[in-house]
Amino acid sequence: MTKKSKLVLGIETSCDETGVALYDTMEGLKGHKLYSQVKLHARYGGVVPELASRDHVKKLLPLVRDLLDETRTDINTIDSIAYTKGPGLSGALLVGATVANALGYSIKKPVIGVHHLEAHLLSPLLSNPNLNFPFIALLVSGGHTQLIQVKDIGQYRLLGDTRDDAAGEAFDKTAKLLGLPYPGGALLSKLAQDGDTTKYPLPKPMIKSGDLDFSFSGLKTAVAHLVQKLDIEQVMASKTLKADIAASFQDSVTEVLTEKCFCALRLEGATALVIAGGVGANTELRRKINERAKKINVATYYPPFEFCTDNGAMVALVGALKNSEAVYGANPFDIKPRWLLSG
Ligand code: KG4
Ligand code: ZN
Repeated sequence: MTKKSKLVLGIETSCDETGVALYDTMEGLKGHKLYSQVKLHARYGGVVPELASRDHVKKLLPLVRDLLDETRTDINTIDSIAYTKGPGLSGALLVGATVANALGYSIKKPVIGVHHLEAHLLSPLLSNPNLNFPFIALLVSGGHTQLIQVKDIGQYRLLGDTRDDAAGEAFDKTAKLLGLPYPGGALLSKLAQDGDTTKYPLPKPMIKSGDLDFSFSGLKTAVAHLVQKLDIEQVMASKTLKADIAASFQDSVTEVLTEKCFCALRLEGATALVIAGGVGANTELRRKINERAKKINVATYYPPFEFCTDNGAMVALVGALKNSEAVYGANPFDIKPRWLLSG
């Protein structure tokens, strides 16, 4: 008997990206679409929650329509709908939850609320369907910096967390100090390519703390002091100075993240490492991790670059993996803006 595949529509609206995707349990990703609100929030230097929700309202349904058109999919052939239930901005999450449930009612199909961080940490499965459990995952995004032991789908144990700023947050705040527009993480990393890491060495916070926790707010303050010491106007006027500072900052963050990953692998006796979340797109982090992994035969897995930051594909993927948990007629306002990943 041939196994029938299931088609899942994924919806992501937890922050400032509207993402939709179709994932087939047998054929994989059929298509995806993403609308980024970056330009909308850039003038405010950060995400404005109310503007984010309003924009999701405007963009989500047209994006779903485009996705269905582009993939030539009849909406009635969708078997279930997955949406990001949390963590995230309440208003933004509500848009995804209500649209997912309304679509579910209209086509009489079940709906499932997905954990945003679970979607990030399973996202490498989008390009590596054979990724084996257990593995250690480093989740590095704008809101999180966590080391997690992943025993299986749904079995997660938190090994380490940030005590203050997340790595992505530190990238964005440091980028701002160097005059780069929001969100500056990727721009700062580009600037760092031309910099010299030895010119202005910065601390590597908690690198030898003996545990798996992180702290990045002091590093950002160290950059602020350095900029002041060198004279703000002089720094702003010199691309070389900015590049050197960016390179040192990136070197410190990536050194700490790399060291803690290998500490976690050693402590847990694990041989596979997943890097997920927006900062996982950082090429210097990937270079350092791959270099060390090669020496001790650790397998490393990353989501494709386009799925490192928020997207609908990873939500559709989790919906497909947990398809049996989707329910028809659920609470259309079921969101969890604060939601720990455990279990
Ligand atoms: O996972 P994500 O899209 O959103 C959250 O769930 O937070 O991650 C966004 C974060 C931002 O802080 C952004 O600056 C950072 O990822 N980021 C990067 C790079 N690309 C995105 N940070 C460092 N290097 C990059 N190449
Ligand atoms: Zn995210």
